[in-house]
Amino acid sequence: MRVEDLDTPVLIVDLDSLEENLDRYQRYFTQHQIGLRPHIKTHKTLAIAHQQMKRGAIGITCQKLGEAEVMVAGGVDQDVLIPYNIVGALKLDRLVALSRRTRLSVAADSAYTVEGLSAAAHRAGATVGVVVELGVGSRAGVPTPQAALELAQQIAQSPGLELRGLMAFPTSVQTRPLLQETLALYDRAGLPHPIVSGGSTASALSAHQVPELTEHRAGEYCVGGVGHLRRGTHSVAQCALRVLMTVVSRPTPDRAILDGGSKSLSASVIQDGEGSSMGYIVEYPQARFHSASEEHGHVDVSACDTKPRIGERVQVLPVHPCPCVNEHDELVALRQGRVEAVWPIAARGKIR
Ligand SMILES: Cc1ncc(COP(=O)(O)O)c(C=O)c1O
Repeated sequence: MRVEDLDTPVLIVDLDSLEENLDRYQRYFTQHQIGLRPHIKTHKTLAIAHQQMKRGAIGITCQKLGEAEVMVAGGVDQDVLIPYNIVGALKLDRLVALSRRTRLSVAADSAYTVEGLSAAAHRAGATVGVVVELGVGSRAGVPTPQAALELAQQIAQSPGLELRGLMAFPTSVQTRPLLQETLALYDRAGLPHPIVSGGSTASALSAHQVPELTEHRAGEYCVGGVGHLRRGTHSVAQCALRVLMTVVSRPTPDRAILDGGSKSLSASVIQDGEGSSMGYIVEYPQARFHSASEEHGHVDVSACDTKPRIGERVQVLPVHPCPCVNEHDELVALRQGRVEAVWPIAARGKIR
C-alpha cells in the first residue's frame, strides 16, 4: 500500500526521517556520555520506544503511570522514570505493583507525596526509587535548593523509598547554577544522587554544557514539530510526523478548508509575528493554518502563488506532536511513500 491509498485525515510518520532523528540524538548523548532517557509521551507507541532502547537509551520517561504500565506490559521494561507526583491510594497501589516489574523511579516535590509513596511501598514490602523535582519553571518542583535538601533528607529516611537524586524541567544552561547549588547541599549532607535528570528537546543538544547531568529526557526530538521548525532544531524533512489531510472546500479564493481540525491536530496553537498557527502545510509553506473547528482546518491561502484545489491532499506538521498523537488510534509508518507498518498508539489517552 502507498500513501496515496490511505484515507484521510491520517497520522503518518516518515521512517527515514524518524530514524535519522533517533540516531542523531543518540549519537550526541553517547558522545557526551550522558544517558538519553526518551520521553514516550510524544509517540506513545511501543514500536518507537523499542527502537529508542535498541539504539542505546538508558530507559524511558513516562509522564503518567498509565503510560508506564502500557510500556512495561509491552516489554519496554528496563528502567522507567515517572517525573510526576503520584498522589492518591489507587495510583500508589498501581505504582508499587509496577515497581516489581521494572526498575522504577518517580519524582516528588512535597512531604505529602513522599509520605504517600513511603506508606504504599512499605506496606507492600517494596522499594520505590524517588528523585526530588527541583522547580526551574512555572510548573511543579520545590522552589529552592534548601527545600530540595530537606525533601531529599525526608526521602532518605522514609521506609520503602530509595533516594536516587533529582530532576528538573526544562534544563537550559541557565539552570546550571541552581542544580550545582542543590548538588552541593546533597554532597555536604552525604546524600546520594546517582540520577541528575535534565529535560526538553530545545535544550537537548546543549546538555553537555550542564555536565552535572547524568541523563536527559527528550520527547519531541524524534519527530520535531512547528515549534522546532521555527527554532531551527528540525528542518521540514526532519519533522517526521504529519497529518495527511484532504482539501474538502474552497469557499472563497483566499480560503481552503481541510478535513482535519482540532480532533486531528489537537488544539495546540503557536503565535508568531504573523498571528496564530495550528500547523505548517508542507506543500504550501505560504498558507496559514490559522484556526480549526473539530473536523475542519481553516486555512488562509491568500499568500500562495498557486492555490490548493478541492480533492488535493496535503501534509500538515502539527504544532505540538504529543497531543496530536493522542488524538489518533494508529500511526502509519511510511518509507519513501510506501506503508511499512501501522502501529497502534498504545499509550494514547492514558491520563491516569
Ligand atoms: C518532565 C518532562 N521531561 C521531559 C520532557 C520532554 O521535553 P520535550 O517535549 O521538549 O521533548 C517533558 C515535556 O513536556 C517533560 O514534561
